[in-house]
Amino acid sequence: MKIAVFAGDGIGPEVTQQAVRVLEALDLPGLELVEGDVGGAAYRKHGHPLPPETLDIAKACDAILFGAVGDFSCDDLERHLRPEQAILGLRKELGLFANLRPATVFKGLEDLTSLRPEVARKIDLLIIRELNGDVYFGEKGMRTTDDGRREGYDVMSYAEDEVRRIAHVGFKAAMGRDRKLCSVDKANVLETSQLWRDVIIEVSAEYPDVELSHMYVDNAAMQLVKDPGQFDVIVTGNLFGDILSDQASMCVGSIGLLASASLAEGTMGLYEPIHGSAPDIAGQGIANPMATILSAAMLLRHSFGREAEASRIEAAVAGALSDGVRGGDLGGNAGTREIGDAVVQKL
Ligand code: NAD
Ligand code: IPM
Ligand code: MN
Repeated sequence: MKIAVFAGDGIGPEVTQQAVRVLEALDLPGLELVEGDVGGAAYRKHGHPLPPETLDIAKACDAILFGAVGDFSCDDLERHLRPEQAILGLRKELGLFANLRPATVFKGLEDLTSLRPEVARKIDLLIIRELNGDVYFGEKGMRTTDDGRREGYDVMSYAEDEVRRIAHVGFKAAMGRDRKLCSVDKANVLETSQLWRDVIIEVSAEYPDVELSHMYVDNAAMQLVKDPGQFDVIVTGNLFGDILSDQASMCVGSIGLLASASLAEGTMGLYEPIHGSAPDIAGQGIANPMATILSAAMLLRHSFGREAEASRIEAAVAGALSDGVRGGDLGGNAGTREIGDAVVQKL
């Protein structure tokens, strides 16, 4: 079990440290952790946010536990040198195209979400976000128009095979849950989305037991707060999935709770909280590490088939929460380390 640990910037190292403690507390046979530099931290040390040595570590490991990258002091660098390129580069280089972002309400947190408790209580959904295409990876640049105005551009596109492979992930996930798949797009305006919708419908023929629906992304944003209980699995593109998953996090209480798995066609997986480096609270020891701890649970489940240990971690997080161990993000005052202690104690 060789796991790369890329802690990154801001709260990244703080939350990753607690997830590592949890993994180590399980006494897994053959567990080996290999640290590597990413993000602004890597730029300062190696002159690049994703240096070759880090990529080599990633490729030599079975899975990656990732903290967060992002550092406002790097925002004036050329884009290819900015911290965010570390995570974008890993996703692309390793073919991590399927991003699973589950959102459920933990017992006892119903009153702490941004929604009314009776609305929040029903949430048990999985957002499947395509991670290798869309406007994220199209041609982009700055240019000057003929009449001298500056213009920025980013090309949005999806090829049919890219949509087909994420569609299969969506349908298969739905088969293992409540057999409802909602594909979110903007087909009323975008050709990229029209192709997306056409391909999703083609693939649906192979999954007659899954109830497929389509929703425009603006409506989906609205429905996610109006009646999130209607969703089982959502499948969507890179940009829409990024936005909707941050929104879903507040529907269940906090962005400090949402974990994710980014999977490739083979066995490689990268696991990270959906939140960023949170520079506003970095270095204070107050970030909620639960999203990263829950990402470690996903790592054990998806990369190593260790369902029992994954469930144990999830139960330990749920137990700590129901004991009232809550960070500032949930209106409590438990610090990062204290939350880690509580989860390890529950384990
Ligand atoms: P963010 O997710 O870092 O923070 C948004 C808000 O949520 C902040 O108020 C922050 O304090 C709070 N928050 C986030 N995680 C928390 C936690 N675990 N516990 C308590 N509160 C938490 O988003 P942002 O402020 O828009 O971005 C900051 C930097 O992070 C940027 O450089 C951005 O590019 C980067 N980012 C990186 C990733 C990643 O590494 N995958 C993801 C998102 C953003
Ligand atoms: C995320 C982040 C990243 C994204 C950024 C940091 C590139 O917001 O993982 O959700 O947009 O995918
Ligand atoms: Mn995001």
